[in-house]
Amino acid sequence: MLEKLILAAKEGITTNDLELLCRRLHDQGGAIPAALHYGSPPYPKSACFSLNEVICHGIADERPLRTGDILNIDITSIVDGYYGDLSKMLCIGSVSEEKRLVVDCARACLDRAIRILKPGFFLFEIGDVIEEEAAKRGCSVVDQFVGHGIGLAFHEPPQVCHHKNRMNIPLEEGMIFTIEPMVNAGKREAVIDPVDQWTARTIDGKPSAQEEHTVLITETGSDVLTA
Ligand code: MF3
Ligand code: CO
Ligand code: CO
Repeated sequence: MLEKLILAAKEGITTNDLELLCRRLHDQGGAIPAALHYGSPPYPKSACFSLNEVICHGIADERPLRTGDILNIDITSIVDGYYGDLSKMLCIGSVSEEKRLVVDCARACLDRAIRILKPGFFLFEIGDVIEEEAAKRGCSVVDQFVGHGIGLAFHEPPQVCHHKNRMNIPLEEGMIFTIEPMVNAGKREAVIDPVDQWTARTIDGKPSAQEEHTVLITETGSDVLTA
């Protein structure tokens, strides 16, 4: 599903066009888009489309994609009662060096966090490696949004912090949660749109990027369920 949206996300297409495609793909596949009407105020769309300085929870609209944009598409689908949560970044045409840097950073942070997962590791170690990787690349890590347990509900305990934290919960075989680091080219602070109450933007208008997977802790490591 995400693959098809990524293929469709070309210059000139609006995020509302992608939103419509996302709904159609859910219908065709017998899946339910978990974002639609989620939370309070009810989220109005079936997936999140976060452009440039939008950190997360961007709402699709009539603005066409332009060369130089970076876009995160975040889809959560319910299939047979089970939730899966996934997001990826894409670049429209050629993008600035600063944007390329945050996009690569988000991907590297998620990859590194996934690589350390196994029973006996602690939840806080995810934040440690993500902070280290982001610092190495000159990016800041957003601390106002977190990953989460997931399964028969969208957001379950525990919270999975991407920043430095003291969550000394040991990972155990069978746990399922998301890792979804958000990294900024500038300051780490997010500001939520006072009108729609969802769109989270960087406080300094600098670009932001995020990638997300749903992972299962196995006996020897982890399985990326959304790969
Ligand atoms: N998919 C987001 C997450 O990774 C949550 C989006 S909530 C919504 O947890 F209502 F904005 F869709
Ligand atoms: Co999530
Ligand atoms: Co998500």
